[in-house]
Amino acid sequence: MKSFVRPSKLGMLAAAALAAALLVPAAPAIAQAKIKVGLMLPYTGTYAALGTAITNGFKLAVEENGGKLGGRDIEYFTVDDESDPAKAPENANKLIKRDQVDVLVGTVHSGVALAMSKVARDNNTLLVIPNAGADEITGALCAPNVFRTSFSNSQPGIAMGKVMAEQKKKTAVTLTWKYAAGEDSVGGFKEAFEAGGGKVVKQLYLPFPQVEFQSYLTEIAALKPDVVYVFFAGGGAVKFVKDYAAAGLKNTIPLVGPGFLTDGTLEAQGESAQGLLTTLHYGDGLNNPKNNAFRAAYEKAYKAEPDVYAVGGYDAAQLLAVGLKAVNGDTSKRAELVKAMESAKIDSPRGSLSLSKSHNPIHDIYLRRVEGKQNKVIGVAVKNLTDPPRGCKL
Ligand code: BEZ
Repeated sequence: MKSFVRPSKLGMLAAAALAAALLVPAAPAIAQAKIKVGLMLPYTGTYAALGTAITNGFKLAVEENGGKLGGRDIEYFTVDDESDPAKAPENANKLIKRDQVDVLVGTVHSGVALAMSKVARDNNTLLVIPNAGADEITGALCAPNVFRTSFSNSQPGIAMGKVMAEQKKKTAVTLTWKYAAGEDSVGGFKEAFEAGGGKVVKQLYLPFPQVEFQSYLTEIAALKPDVVYVFFAGGGAVKFVKDYAAAGLKNTIPLVGPGFLTDGTLEAQGESAQGLLTTLHYGDGLNNPKNNAFRAAYEKAYKAEPDVYAVGGYDAAQLLAVGLKAVNGDTSKRAELVKAMESAKIDSPRGSLSLSKSHNPIHDIYLRRVEGKQNKVIGVAVKNLTDPPRGCKL
């Protein structure tokens, strides 16, 4: 006899549910997994405060984006790079190979960034640089997977060289740490200052991160130039500005530099920084809606005033948000992601921000004067400054 099993009502319902589940595609795994962001920044040493400000700025923009990028939650992996170029390959490899990050964000120090960008290029890892301005990274070493939201070091230098030539200064002495950032910064200043009729009569260097400035100050006093241009940042900038004033030079030979000389440092520099002129793509008094909202949100979140470094971090996350939104968080769609980042128009606290073909910011460079605890914007030194093409083949 043929056996016949009559299906129960419950069984039929279960089968229908199973069939329906098979027809509806499951949410792709990509939408569920977190985006892994590797923050490689200095959290110790002379640039420690800069690394913290960048981290804060980045996380603030992510929070304003609902805690997500491209619809995906974020998992952070953090490495203190100590501003040490020798440790950079190992640190970057840790994030890429061990932690398998989707994107690298860093760093402050140009020497570290140069090594980091090599590792990123070799592994085809997406890298967003929120500070380090080594010209070469968006010059001869530019790459489709490497972006910068800060500046190239020659940009503020070019702007200050132009301003000093316009002020009819004839001679300048430069002083900086001897590494890519200082060399590029001084290079930009010299190029524009001499194109405007000035002459750099002496270029002085000391190793990074040394802060024994006395012999250099003695030499500057003897040379008596019309102006002194220096690149220092973080703890080194604090010490230099104080030493320059203490040596009695502040009132006799004007001291100028890129804005890093007085950004995030005014509390510690106090009276010695008052009146100093600097050039940078950001300033405290910028009165645009984005900057006002950014400053209020940053102060609320961190009980501290934001500076240019916080802006670089904030815009790194804004740029990534544009790219990842275009691919719905699917980082495997690299070409589309890169295309969206390349054509992004970002509402930055600095003003509008777009990128050059080499993935470096095109932005206004402001002239600022220290007034109290502010780097007050007093004019635009160069409008829409792009980095000169220096061998980038993108
Ligand atoms: C750099 O190394 O590129 C750098 C460091 C601090 C401030 C600005 C630039």
